Amino acid sequence: MSSPVPVITLDGPSGVGKGTVSLRLAKQLGWHTLDSGALYRVLALAAVRHSLSLSDESALADLAIRLNVYFKAVPALDTTHVFLAEQEVSAQLRTEIGGAMASQLAILPAVRQSLLKRQRAFRQPPGLIAEGRDMGTVVFNDAPVKIFLTANPEERAQRRYKQLKQKGIDAKLDSLITEIAERDNRDMTRTVAPLLVAADAEVIDTTDLSIEQVVEYILQQVSRKIDS
Ligand code: DC
Repeated sequence: MSSPVPVITLDGPSGVGKGTVSLRLAKQLGWHTLDSGALYRVLALAAVRHSLSLSDESALADLAIRLNVYFKAVPALDTTHVFLAEQEVSAQLRTEIGGAMASQLAILPAVRQSLLKRQRAFRQPPGLIAEGRDMGTVVFNDAPVKIFLTANPEERAQRRYKQLKQKGIDAKLDSLITEIAERDNRDMTRTVAPLLVAADAEVIDTTDLSIEQVVEYILQQVSRKIDS
């Protein structure tokens, strides 16, 4: 029997650097990536476009199944572009409001169920790096390498602040700290697939680590657990 396509799961709260780490790992390993948060964000955007309430569970679950979304890696820019109904929506997705709306509809069990199959379809050879909140606990619970990234909330707000400024997006540090704390709370306390550390995950506190150090550490785990 052939062995399953390997997966590295990267879970953790918002602003911890999962996206950057995931893209760096993908470059080094030549693997695919799944930004599961982007799926929740796209769904929120589509819901707004269809004038659906963010609490209308069955309509949102239906929409999640029909969602015309695809991802296109842009290695030259170190990023991935997201398309909804053939339109590039990456910038619209990354706003704080986009994140807050995604986190609201992410509490709905039927919505999460509708997105499960779509997420698992990203598991293609030679391997997948999947980032989100429940990658190691639910979606890819058989993954050979599970990482949970943390960093203190002030540091995460600072990183988000710098990222937004670099992109020319106006932001206030105070409101980012409040927003991050609210989102952490909602993501950790929901009843279905809350943000928590998988029993077999490795926790890395990135507060005082560089991206390179985090990537290096994970690559060591990969060669220890997958290559051998
Ligand atoms: O990773 P992100 O900030 O783009 O995610 C946006 C929201 O989507 C997050 O606050 C909660 C939800 N989400 C989730 O519930 N499960 C995931 N695997 C990824 C994101």
